[in-house]
Amino acid sequence: MKNLPITGKDIARAATVLEADGVVAIPTETVYGLAGNIFSRKAIDKIYSIKKRPRSNPLIVHVSSVRKAKELVKSFPATAELLARNFWPGPLTMVLPKKKIVGDWLTAKENTVAIRIPDHPITLKLLRRLHFPLAAPSANPFKYISPVSAKQVKKMLGNKVVYILDGGRSKRGIESTIVSFEKDGVKILRPGAITEEQLEKVLQEPLLKSVKKKSAHPGMFKKHYSPHTPLFFTDDVLKFVGNKKQDNVAVLSFCKKHKLPHDVKQIVLSKKGLFEEAAANLYDALHQLDNGKFKLIIAEKAPDTGLGKAINERLKKASVK
Ligand code: TXA
Ligand code: MG
Repeated sequence: MKNLPITGKDIARAATVLEADGVVAIPTETVYGLAGNIFSRKAIDKIYSIKKRPRSNPLIVHVSSVRKAKELVKSFPATAELLARNFWPGPLTMVLPKKKIVGDWLTAKENTVAIRIPDHPITLKLLRRLHFPLAAPSANPFKYISPVSAKQVKKMLGNKVVYILDGGRSKRGIESTIVSFEKDGVKILRPGAITEEQLEKVLQEPLLKSVKKKSAHPGMFKKHYSPHTPLFFTDDVLKFVGNKKQDNVAVLSFCKKHKLPHDVKQIVLSKKGLFEEAAANLYDALHQLDNGKFKLIIAEKAPDTGLGKAINERLKKASVK
């Protein structure tokens, strides 16, 4: 095994590693995940140690069907059924009361488990072949930028994972939206690829307002998704570039190609101003700029509606020192 290339499209090989308590990086439509058997304590320990992730931060479980999701939870409310029908497979993660078979060491001792069906043909094939679901946090070191390609996973974790299953560029490029089910409605715990508006349209009622509380894991870390290069998050790029030594800075613009001095590197996330396109390009652009040896990345705020909210949340957290 040692001499085989670590990146490839071999589902059988990925399955063999996973069946032997190993971890494999897997493609999803949102970002790449670092996957292991949810029933293997050894595999879960490996995921935490490879990512250097605190044990207080629980993992998302990936399954291939609603039936398999139900095997892991005590109840599956009618609203969850409705959301599953509309958004699964897809970038929506539901937090539900867990059964005992889901170990506490996977959920940071919470009595809930976060579950989704990913919308990626290769990973769905892999999940259908396995006799267990896969826990998979994003395949990046703790607090760093999430990967949207096998190449980025290899650069960050290549010496730590046995196999990277290559499924091409992640189409959505931003993590799943996480929701919980409360007595009086549905609440977003982490904004993501499915927007508030999309959820409300299906639920036909407003979402509950998210109040920040200590135990809300997805919001637990102020700093996240961060490049090593300092990042400044602003709605006025031009003003900010103005007083900087220009050959050291790079600009990440939402849709406008700003008139900048020619030695300022600029990446435009979506020339047409389309949120989906901007989200799909976001992490790739951040990886590129972080490899560019700049002193500072100046990132422009997207309009704060729809998917723009998730984009801004990521950039804001990326800007925390
Ligand atoms: O799109 C995604 O969700 C990707 C792909 C790989 O599926 N996964 C992902 O995982 O973003 P991760 O571990 O990077 O982020 C999962 C978030 C964490 O912030 C964690 O705190 C939260 O989900 N989470 C997990 N279990 C939870 C639970 N039981 N209650 C509340 N939050 C939970
Ligand atoms: Mg993550």
